[in-house]
Amino acid sequence: MSLYIEKYRPKKREDIIGNKEEIDRIFSIVKTRNIPHMIFEGPSGTGKTSTALTIARTLFGDFYKSNFMEKNASDESGVGVVRNSIKTFCTMAPLSADFKILFLDECERISPAAQDSLKRIMEDFSGVTRFIYSCNDISKVIEPIRSRCAEFHFSPLRNEDIAKQIRIVAKAESIEIEEEAVTFLAELADGDMRKALNKLQVLASYGTSINKKLLSNYDKLKNPIVGILNSLTQGRFLESRNTCKDLLLQGYSERRIISDLHKAFIHNETIPPTVKGSAIIELCEADYRLTLGVSKGLQLDAVLLKILRCIKQDNET
Ligand SMILES: Nc1ncnc2c1ncn2[C@@H]1O[C@H](COP(=O)(O)OP(=O)(O)OP(=O)(O)O)[C@@H](O)[C@H]1O
Ligand SMILES: [Mg+2]
Repeated sequence: MSLYIEKYRPKKREDIIGNKEEIDRIFSIVKTRNIPHMIFEGPSGTGKTSTALTIARTLFGDFYKSNFMEKNASDESGVGVVRNSIKTFCTMAPLSADFKILFLDECERISPAAQDSLKRIMEDFSGVTRFIYSCNDISKVIEPIRSRCAEFHFSPLRNEDIAKQIRIVAKAESIEIEEEAVTFLAELADGDMRKALNKLQVLASYGTSINKKLLSNYDKLKNPIVGILNSLTQGRFLESRNTCKDLLLQGYSERRIISDLHKAFIHNETIPPTVKGSAIIELCEADYRLTLGVSKGLQLDAVLLKILRCIKQDNET
């Protein structure tokens, strides 16, 4: 059984959904059959890797695998790796093409010293190798690399774009999914197509038709944050605090809990809008204070108590 994300990975320009202006700009350059070094910046699951692969397929046709190398920088980010494996690829002649493409994923994780040695390699071999960098945070890429590249920004995909792809995949896989569940699944994905397709695949494996109820039950089960929300709405502070503590032990950060709680509030349909509003303001303030590095445990406790107070006040009115 293959993963939907691989099975439905775009193969040509028309398959890439969303970010129309940027993608059009990229492919108008590709049309000239000569590309500059490029950096793709944007959050996960928006199509950066897929776009790089599509460029290679468009330019090299059947030879795209020989002329395209993908390296994930976070595996090995030292100067030695840059010198050896990257340089080796750069020195090899392209196959039936004018140049090859080296795709460096998560390039912000390459150490600054290694990034520095890359800029030289980029210059020395630009005749036969074009670099495409991909990153989530471009501010961590050193200026000399940025100035040698054309930058393209990938925004989170719009809900309707994700919904469109969910419908296409569901149809191709003969999955029965209610329209209401399609829009809800797209919302839950937060602009990340990978997240949407992976969730669709898990739900499809249950073998029944997918409706909104199945989706929200699955989400509650998988999402301990919803448990915190339930404890809070039932006035159980200690229970919510204990779940937070468990999550911290599992490696969640305080800011991740705050950010996930924010999403859980947004998607919850039973909490009154006034409570949602006050809770989100409290979460926002806690998030800000956490960036200042103040006592993290205390901030988390405080925000849970403040949300509890908002809920209580609403119950009393
Ligand atoms: N714009 C898109 N159009 C169609 N499918 C997409 C798009 N973006 C992502 N996908 C789907 O999600 C999967 C993962 O996307 P991809 O690997 O291109 O994301 P990415 O932006 O490189 O993410 P990361 O930053 O995590 O590396 C693809 O295989 C494809 O199935
Ligand atoms: Mg990628």
